[in-house]
Amino acid sequence: MANQAVSVNEAGSGVTRREFLYYIWGASIVLFAAQTVGLLIWFLIPRFREGEFGGQFILPLEAVPGVNAEPANFPDGRFWLTNLNTDEPNENMYPAPEDNLPIIGVVALYKVCTHLGCIYSWTPANHRFECPCHGSKYRLDGRRIETPAPRSLDRFQVLALAEDKSTVLAESPEDGDHYDALVLPSDTAFVSVNTGLRKLGLKQTPLCVFAGNCP
Ligand code: FES
Repeated sequence: MANQAVSVNEAGSGVTRREFLYYIWGASIVLFAAQTVGLLIWFLIPRFREGEFGGQFILPLEAVPGVNAEPANFPDGRFWLTNLNTDEPNENMYPAPEDNLPIIGVVALYKVCTHLGCIYSWTPANHRFECPCHGSKYRLDGRRIETPAPRSLDRFQVLALAEDKSTVLAESPEDGDHYDALVLPSDTAFVSVNTGLRKLGLKQTPLCVFAGNCP
């Protein structure tokens, strides 16, 4: 009689106790799966704050070095900022024999040597970047002067920004899988370097080959 009474009650509510427990169990599994997927996405999608390596660095125009002057060092962003013009050559920046077009504009160079990842630096006395590990050398624009580096230095994307810091006036031209120098429009107020967007340096002929003085 008691069992009969329960069955009647369960039938009356429309959902049996067993079904109810199944629903709770199913809902718990769905909730757990959703949480797991959400956490996975949270960890997989990189989020970098402005001014943190991997994110954007917004610099005032005054931070850009003079034309063919020594590069500006940004340790937090792990890049060097250079301002190039082979139409006004000097000891830092000069055209290579195979450069058909002038190289003009701003470039952000990743601070890691393309050989085995050492940190190279600018050597003012020799007017070039030099790697202390195995002797690779690079011109002001990051082009290989001497091996064993397998390619020129990698570059980050550069944007020219207006006074409001959000209007993009121009961005690094892309030459295949490579960032070219960016000519800054006259109304540029800020320059943004996106350290989350890096393209590999070109595998150009080392400059020492043209000079005939490779070690
Ligand atoms: S890591 Fe720079 S030359 Fe080897």
